[in-house]
Amino acid sequence: MSEQNLGEDVDRALLRLTIIPMLPSLQIGRYIARYPIIQGAMAVRIAGASLAAAVANAGGIGLIASFGIGLNSDPDRRNRQFFAANRLALIEELQQARQLSPDGIVGVNILVAARDYPQMAETAAEHGANLIVTGAGLPLDLPQYTQNYPDVALVPSVATVAAAQTLCETWHQQYQRLPDALILENCKSIGGHFASQCEENTVDPIDTTIAQLRHYLSQRFGVTIPIIISGGIWDRGDIDRAISIGADGVQIGTRFITTEECGADLRYKEFHLQAHHHKLVTVPSPVGKPARAMRNQFAENALADSPTLEKRCIASCLESCLCRDNRQTYCLLQALDRAARGDIDRGLIFSGGAVKPIDRILPVSELMTSLTQRT
Ligand SMILES: Cc1cc2nc3c(=O)[nH]c(=O)nc-3n(C[C@H](O)[C@H](O)[C@H](O)COP(=O)(O)O)c2cc1C
Repeated sequence: MSEQNLGEDVDRALLRLTIIPMLPSLQIGRYIARYPIIQGAMAVRIAGASLAAAVANAGGIGLIASFGIGLNSDPDRRNRQFFAANRLALIEELQQARQLSPDGIVGVNILVAARDYPQMAETAAEHGANLIVTGAGLPLDLPQYTQNYPDVALVPSVATVAAAQTLCETWHQQYQRLPDALILENCKSIGGHFASQCEENTVDPIDTTIAQLRHYLSQRFGVTIPIIISGGIWDRGDIDRAISIGADGVQIGTRFITTEECGADLRYKEFHLQAHHHKLVTVPSPVGKPARAMRNQFAENALADSPTLEKRCIASCLESCLCRDNRQTYCLLQALDRAARGDIDRGLIFSGGAVKPIDRILPVSELMTSLTQRT
């Protein structure tokens, strides 16, 4: 599979690119971000309070990744109760983010595929998340967990119009509401898990999908909902292109790894300084979807299904897991956690298709300036 910025479909849109002098703001629910940029959640603890708060302070929307967040807790707490440790760690992280960014927009990302998804959604809403973004699955019952917190904006990620339709019809019928925004996964470039259909090349170009989504929302419900493209955004030119094909904003993950505030070990960040899209591979994952990652020893082992690949489940964290249930692939939580702690050979290093080599690790404020200002 070719790994390109936003895919060939957006390259076509280049032809009708208009330079956007000033980026528009982005309203999601009752929150208005100065810039249409959401920082993508990155587990495990790569995107924590410090990164989310820095992005929020710079005028974007910061997200704390909740998957496996308790893995840094003191071992006593963690070993006794993994899910309780996750919940406590999320509360602490939200409190810290709020201290660092009292007025910024800070949300939490929750994996629908995680066993503690309902508990984490309730906890995020109760402890002050401005929005909840979901990944890895359709959150058909999410409004149920946040019903006492109407100010919390709900932002599911979808890969296709069909998925968005299933979600909107269910929410409309069961909860008389719609999402506050939709993250549209650009599966040709997104870092981490992506839709399996992408490998078969049966997905529509992203600009077509945006147009179809807008048409469905306005014809069926008479509404306009912000649509955020996720995957393949690296610089200001990519943001302009996304907006020129009809997106209201972008979600950016990989680009934020090489920042001072990113929670990963320095070795992980330094590995990304030399990253290049030619080094990307698609590895199988225990959630049953393909995942985009950097080529390293771990990825080679995963691709070859090497006997050296450890298949020990460390926390039974996923609702359905090929590692725990079928002894296939590897433990996702352990693989991501190892990488984030700096074990570059034995960890899984998710990365997006727009990745390019860069010369240094920057403060978020500097990166946000380069993403938002025209020079
Ligand atoms: C290291 C890494 C970890 C990620 N972890 C999560 C996660 O926990 N939850 C989620 O919904 N998406 C996760 N993603 C996807 C990002 O939130 C975001 O959608 C993606 O990085 C956007 O593509 P880009 O990396 O090309 O900017 C992860 C991506 C990366 C690179």
